[in-house]
Amino acid sequence: MVESPIPLPFTAIILAAGMGTRMKSAMPKVMHPVAGRSMIGHVIHTAKAAGATQLITVIRNGFDDVAEEIHSHDASATIAYQIEKEGTGAAVLSAKDAASNTNQPFLILYGDTPLIQAETLQNMLHKLDESDVSVVVLGMTPEDAGAYGRLITDGGALTQIVEYNDANETERAVTLCNSGVMGVKGERLFELLDSLTNENAKGEYYLTDIVAIANANGELCSYVEGDEAEMLGVNARAELTQAEASMQTRLRDEAMKNGVTLIDPSSVFFSMNTTIGNDTLIEPNVYFSGKVNISSNVHIKANCHIEGADIASGASIGPFARLRPGTQLGENVKIGNFVETKKATLAKGAKVSHLSYIGDATVGAAANIGAGTITCNYDGVNKFQTTIEAGAFIGSNTALVAPVTIGANATIGAGSVITKDVNEKSLALTRSKQLTIANYEVKDTSD
Ligand code: UD1
Ligand code: CA
Repeated sequence: MVESPIPLPFTAIILAAGMGTRMKSAMPKVMHPVAGRSMIGHVIHTAKAAGATQLITVIRNGFDDVAEEIHSHDASATIAYQIEKEGTGAAVLSAKDAASNTNQPFLILYGDTPLIQAETLQNMLHKLDESDVSVVVLGMTPEDAGAYGRLITDGGALTQIVEYNDANETERAVTLCNSGVMGVKGERLFELLDSLTNENAKGEYYLTDIVAIANANGELCSYVEGDEAEMLGVNARAELTQAEASMQTRLRDEAMKNGVTLIDPSSVFFSMNTTIGNDTLIEPNVYFSGKVNISSNVHIKANCHIEGADIASGASIGPFARLRPGTQLGENVKIGNFVETKKATLAKGAKVSHLSYIGDATVGAAANIGAGTITCNYDGVNKFQTTIEAGAFIGSNTALVAPVTIGANATIGAGSVITKDVNEKSLALTRSKQLTIANYEVKDTSD
């Protein structure tokens, strides 16, 4: 067996101060979600998984929601602000005060490359550690090199990175491109950055220029090549969609590897926080969002929307069910078609088979909720709780006006509006008695 190399510690500097104008969004670019997690959140998770011992994120003044988002993923992340100058080099310079530990290497990552993987980062660190180089760049050969920066090489050495806007025809013809990820020896980063100028097409301080600066100093730079799909940089909505598609493919593959059956993987959409046990079967057109935990042997039938729910083994959901946040389903619970649940705990074996709304409610074991039952949890201002105890039977088309408790094994007659608690084993019904008139016929009096 090949042992994976010991992870090398590093400081991650994550750039997220770009305006992201091509997104045409009121929201900073790195806040846009991919599989339910912000792009910056993805990069933070990956940096930590790769062994980052310190995390510095560079954002813009006024990006308060970005700062909050960063801290929701890593409470100890340092936030630096890019103030005066523009460009990726200026952004890294903004991290200087926070980046006091120069005994370990820096990895510079972009907040808009959500697909990057921890293993790739460790490959770069090992290259930086094993060789006598100051800078290692993550390169790629994309199908369409587009406007990526081009890596100019000489044998295994990297001599320069030329930005597309500044490149001549020969340089533009180079297919090896800059993914954006860069590793720099701890003691070299800020010295190299000190020599940056903004004499280029965009008038910005380019991080990429430190490669030529290091070469001019007689220092060696190098590169490692990675997979294009992993290095996709999101600049506009079309790339956001591409990132989503790649991430979904990854999550679907992972689910199947873990023993989940997906009849049509391409129609099932996961969120980063979905966990699913083995032998669970998911039919087509199912959308997960928020934190969802699904145990083993669950059957999710076609066309369900599942958000923030915990589902125990043996449960059966749908088709056409909507589980909203705070839904907790015990073993063998059955949720049928056109049922919506929210903040609802259903104990083992409870059944809500058709056309119901169960919100702010607890439902006891083996209770049976008839078709068209509604928990009336809201009076226009406040929300109230409904408690249905074990074994209760709620007749079809019942309105349970909360707060209300239905005792264990009680029965509610169909078509009732229940406003008062019902004791255990009792029958309650509020509909008027049926009147039947024999031999009744309406005469036709029209001419
Ligand atoms: C950059 C690289 C290019 C590479 C490409 C890969 C430079 C000069 N160019 O170009 O070689 O092929 O990424 O995707 O580095 N940012 C800041 N402050 C700034 C500007 C940018 O924090 O002033 C951040 C952005 O938020 C983003 C990242 O840096 O996360 C990259 O910026 P972007 O403007 O997208 O760079 P590209 O033009 O794509
Ligand atoms: Ca970019």
